[in-house]
Amino acid sequence: MFSRYKKQPAAQPVKAAAQPAETAAPAAQAAPTPAATAVARRPQKKAAEVAGADRDRKRKERLSEIKIELHRELLENLNLAALETAAEAELRAEISAIASEVLETRNIVLNRDDRSQLNKELYDEVTGLGPLETLLQDDTVNDILVNGPHQIFVERAGKLEISDITFKDEKHLMRIIDKIVSAVGRRVDESNPYVDARLADGSRFNAMVPPIAVDGSLVSIRKFKKDKLGIDDLVNFGAFTEEMAAYLQAAVSTRLNVIVSGGTGSGKTTTLNALSSFIDDAERILTIEDTAELQLQQTHVGRMESRPPNVEGKGEVSPRDCLKNALRMRPDRIIVGETRGAEVIDMLQAMNTGHDGSMTTIHANSARDGISRLENMIAMAGIEMPIKAVRSQIASAVNLIVQASRLQDGSRRMTSITEITGMEGDVISMQEIFRFQRVGLTPDNKIIGHFTATGVRSHYSERFRLWGFDLPASIYDPTTM
Ligand SMILES: Nc1ncnc2c1ncn2[C@@H]1O[C@H](COP(=O)(O)OP(=O)(O)OP(=O)(O)O)[C@@H](O)[C@H]1O
Ligand SMILES: [Mg+2]
Repeated sequence: MFSRYKKQPAAQPVKAAAQPAETAAPAAQAAPTPAATAVARRPQKKAAEVAGADRDRKRKERLSEIKIELHRELLENLNLAALETAAEAELRAEISAIASEVLETRNIVLNRDDRSQLNKELYDEVTGLGPLETLLQDDTVNDILVNGPHQIFVERAGKLEISDITFKDEKHLMRIIDKIVSAVGRRVDESNPYVDARLADGSRFNAMVPPIAVDGSLVSIRKFKKDKLGIDDLVNFGAFTEEMAAYLQAAVSTRLNVIVSGGTGSGKTTTLNALSSFIDDAERILTIEDTAELQLQQTHVGRMESRPPNVEGKGEVSPRDCLKNALRMRPDRIIVGETRGAEVIDMLQAMNTGHDGSMTTIHANSARDGISRLENMIAMAGIEMPIKAVRSQIASAVNLIVQASRLQDGSRRMTSITEITGMEGDVISMQEIFRFQRVGLTPDNKIIGHFTATGVRSHYSERFRLWGFDLPASIYDPTTM
């Protein structure tokens, strides 16, 4: 029936004898569950609800058993090489036919919804990333975090929640991880237990497998958004105000060097991407990232992606290598996705020597903290310079630190915009221009607060004016906005 995609007769016969035993066992155990016993003790009205939920759970369990069994049969019987050229509709039809045949021989009757759900999952398993596929296609999901085969968390609207999707077991999870990393020519196993990769759709992928991951493989996926949040979206979401946007536009257009600082998943890359929209279309921009996430709208953009060493420890192209090369490529601006190591030296140098308007992100919890991070990175890079010299290098390179934060209610906001104004003795002097002022918490734990200017006028107001960005003095008034 499914001849084209079926392996030639050499393939082993379906191991029908072994499988029913495997599926039959859980089904037989399912009957006297604790939930079922509970039903007997509860009052009538509740009992109906519980029985319904119980039926639903059992149905799900049964479906998942059938799916596992069917999937095994599919993998054993399908000619996987031929699948690559198959048209989607054709393949779906084949899979559905194989499923029907197996269900029939097993005397399993499923309703229409269960059948189509089963076919979808089988299709995802054969052609895509199995259980992850549903989450990857769900646009409300930002992050997918797998903690071993039986626990998958997702982030929606800034909040982590557990999903009811699971893998069958560690082997199943490993097979999907292998599928992802082998597609990009990498390998992950006990001797190379972690890997960074990019999914076909551009999503950022990281995996760490046992024994380093103790309770089963850890997978983290940052979904790639085709439509990146722009300045207007961020203003609409309350990430910052229109006044702050006007200020940022002036800052980026007049080529201040900007660092976006923030914690993990706080919205640094999103902010950097949105800020880049203020860059003039005539400028030549070079971007350097570990995993290309930025989506610049300008015409003249050169993108670089650094590369970790391969299995033999060779072939690395570090962010620093990219940055050094970028400096020979006559850029107007350089954007480094994240500065976390030795490239900091070249980044600061670039900012100091004619590539003003460069931008990057760093991992830090405040502007002050961000400066310490830069100092540490310089020290770790093995540069021996007196601290005062290090600081004056930073102070003259960086003009602005924008702090991105994910607050406890899941909202992401620009909690501070701080200017670096120079040095006072050994200390870098800075002034905060805008901040998010928290005032309390609603009963359902939403943060109450507002953005406000601090009342300090920008150190760069004259520069803004000269470049034609004459911001009204009122935007610096510390009123509730
Ligand atoms: N203001 C916002 N409102 C709603 N969603 C946001 C906002 N800012 C960012 N996001 C979403 O939050 C997720 C994380 O954002 P982003 O990738 O920019 O964070 P990051 O700080 O760069 O993370 P990482 O530290 O992992 O690199 C993304 O899916 C992004 O679309
Ligand atoms: Mg990022």
